[in-house]
Parts: sequence; C-alpha cells; structure tokens
Amino acid sequence: MGANDLRMDSQWLPFTPNRHFRKQPRVFTAADGMHFTTHEGQRIVDGISSLWCVGAGHNRKPINDAITRQLGTLDYATAFQASNDQAFLAAERIAQLAPGDLSKVLFCNSGSEAADTSLKLALAYHRARGEGHRTVFIGRERGYHGVGFGGMSVGGIPANRKAFGTALLPRVDHLRFIHDPVRHAYIHHQEPVWDEDPLLELEQRILPLHDPSNVAAVIVEPIAGSAGWYIPPKGYLQRLREICDRHGILLIFDEVITGFGRLGVPFGADFYGVVPDMLNFAKCVTNGVIPLGGVIVREKLYEQLMATDAPEHVIEFFHGYTYSGHPVACAAAVATLDLYRDEGLFERAGTMGRVLGDAFHGTFKGLPNVIGIRSLGLAAAVELAPIAGKPGKRAYDIFLDCWQHGSLVRPAGDTVVIAPPYIVERAHIDQLVNTLADAIRRHA
Ligand SMILES: Cc1ncc(COP(=O)(O)O)c(C=O)c1O
Repeated sequence: MGANDLRMDSQWLPFTPNRHFRKQPRVFTAADGMHFTTHEGQRIVDGISSLWCVGAGHNRKPINDAITRQLGTLDYATAFQASNDQAFLAAERIAQLAPGDLSKVLFCNSGSEAADTSLKLALAYHRARGEGHRTVFIGRERGYHGVGFGGMSVGGIPANRKAFGTALLPRVDHLRFIHDPVRHAYIHHQEPVWDEDPLLELEQRILPLHDPSNVAAVIVEPIAGSAGWYIPPKGYLQRLREICDRHGILLIFDEVITGFGRLGVPFGADFYGVVPDMLNFAKCVTNGVIPLGGVIVREKLYEQLMATDAPEHVIEFFHGYTYSGHPVACAAAVATLDLYRDEGLFERAGTMGRVLGDAFHGTFKGLPNVIGIRSLGLAAAVELAPIAGKPGKRAYDIFLDCWQHGSLVRPAGDTVVIAPPYIVERAHIDQLVNTLADAIRRHA
C-alpha cells in the first residue's frame, strides 16, 4: 500500500505532529507477536508494547477467541441499573490480583477516565464522612494522568498547563519531581537512595499551606512512566503512605503503566510494598485489544459510601460510563489475565527487564549526548541532551530513525524509552538497543 492509497484527509491524529506525519506517514496494517507490518510492507519490532498495552504480544489466540465467543453471546448490554456476567468475572479476577484490601472495582474505559473516577471518588468519600471540605488534590510535577480536566489538573505536564491551564481544577498543588540528574542520572535496577528527603516539602510547605484537613487525596504514578521512566527514591512511597495516613488523606496510585506486570509483579503497589486507597489501571488489562480501565478501591471507601441514610433506590455514587464493564472488554480482560498467569508473563517481565537494563547501561553509557539511563522492571530510558533551542527534537529524530530501521521506540521529551511486551526475547532486545544506539550516534 503506497502513501497515496492511505485516505489521510479525514483523520486528525492524537498526540502526533500531523503536518509532519502527512509528509512521512507511519501506518500499521498488521501485527503478530513482537512485530508489526506497515503499509509499506516493513516489519517493525514493537519496542514499547504499543504504548505500554500489549504485555502478551500481538494477536494472541486465547484473547481473540474469548472476544469472538463473547460477541456471539452477549455483545453489549447497558451498564446502568443492570450489569453483565463478564463484568463481575473480570472485577473478581482483578480484585483477587490486587494487594491488601483493594477489593472493589469500578470500571471505565481508559486511564484518563480512571483518573477522573478516582478523584471524584475521593470527593464523594470525604463528603460521605462529613468532611466535604476536603477538596484539595495533590499531584506531582511531570505526573501524567491523562487528558480529562481532572487528570490534567493533578498532572504536571507543562504543555497541558500551557494550553489548558486557565481551565483546570482550582484547588490543586504539586509535589516536586522525583529526579536528581546530578547524583542519580544513572539508575540500574536499584532504587536510588537520596541524601535529602523529597517529601519534606509536602510536610513542611504544601500541607501547612492548604491545611491537611482540607486535602482530599494525593495522586502519583509509582514510577513516572509517560514523562520518561523516572524512578522514585528508596522509601518515597512508604513515606507518602505514612504522611497521608497521619492526615486522613487518601492515596491514589495511577498504575495505568505499572499495573499488570511491568515490574515483574502484578502492580507497582506490590513492588514497593505500599497499598494505596485507590489504584487506577487500564492498558495491559486487556493486552491493549479493547479499551478497558478502572479503579480498584479499598473496602473502607465502598463501605462508607454504602452507609448512607438515603432510601435504597438512590444511587450512592453518581458516576459511570455507558461502556463501564463492557462485556466484550471484560471477556478480553479475563482471557488476558489467564494468559499472563498461564505463561508466567509477569515473572518473565522481571527476568527480561534485567536483560534490557543491562543492555541499556552496557550500550548507551558514553554515547554522544547521553546524560542519563534509568532501568527498572521491563522498561528502560535513555536521556539525551536536548538540541539547543529545540527541546524534544533530538529524541523525535531518533524515533524516526529507529522506525526507518525497523524498531518502534518511544520519545518522551528528550528521553527515549523502550518497554517491550513481556514475551520479548534477548534477540529483540539486542535489535532494539543496537538500532537505538546507531540512531543516537547518527544524531549526535
Ligand atoms: C499513568 C497514566 N495515567 C493515565 C493515562 C491516560 O490513559 P488513556 O490514554 O488511556 O486515557 C496514561 C497514559 O499513558 C498514563 O500513563
């Protein structure tokens, strides 16, 4: 298929430089296992699990079969005032996998919706406890929680604030970012140990400023994924949990990227041994094949919202989406979780993560413009010095170069990330890393 056969006049591409894309289209037409085929017939290795979604690799028969079966059984049914059997099954499986007493699953369709759902739940919970004044949210600089107004507000992405800052939620503050480019530019499968305490500012500045009694929730990604795989200092999340507990503040983990195996265990919460009050998920839950997201909620939040004096016909939490718990998406989720379990894919992600991390540190250290390398779980990032006056251009050019040489990598600012499906083999890692190294050299 040539570029002229692509009917490009109607689609406006998301998070893509559309003008440049038209000159140099990159279009997938098929995928299997670790590889895509493009409109030009090129084979491309999927180095980013297609935006962190495809843990089990592409075109997995058990998931495809489950979807086909479900389509022929119950294709769709309203999610309000009724439900479907697949939604209950999927919720049970997800809750069983979740740590601690995270036990109730509220479905939605994306990470952005999960962010909004969790923030609204926090407000509703505090209101139900008679603390409706708790409306302040605290996110973190460079945090990404999607593109809804709630998620953008607690997120700390400068481009969002530039474009939409005047329309964001008013009572939001942000923790400082969790990166020390001087002492911890290179992180190789360990948690960096900081001399200073990055959460002192929460205790000594942010909470006193708003008064802790007004704060509804703190929301963080256990590892800052979209920003470029930034790993928190040792003990950070434990201490955040303690501070939140001390002040009655809810802690939300956005695990849209770290959830379902990326760190070699089910969730970032397991990896760090910290149970949040809510855990947002999406992406890998269906292996990317059908949109599904959700929030896993601690029992106490559910119980509080059910302990209402309102008559039984009244909805306790006034929230939901037409496609919440879609039966086909939920059938896909159950089949995906079966596949992850049957093939030991979370463990495999942990094992192959070490191979990936070793390859990153062994290959990129000392290459031109490399100013940092971070690896943990099955994801690794190489940070590059930006071209003066053109932030993001070096990584974008390197991404294009890698594509031309058969590898899909992910530019994030001037960082390039590789986070392959858990089925990745050593040979794929070698290909991805060597292609990226050549591209870094070519764009020096
Ligand atoms: C941590 C996190 N939260 C939320 C989102 C938004 O998810 P979606 O694009 O499905 O709305 C993302 C997307 O990358 C994410 O990484």
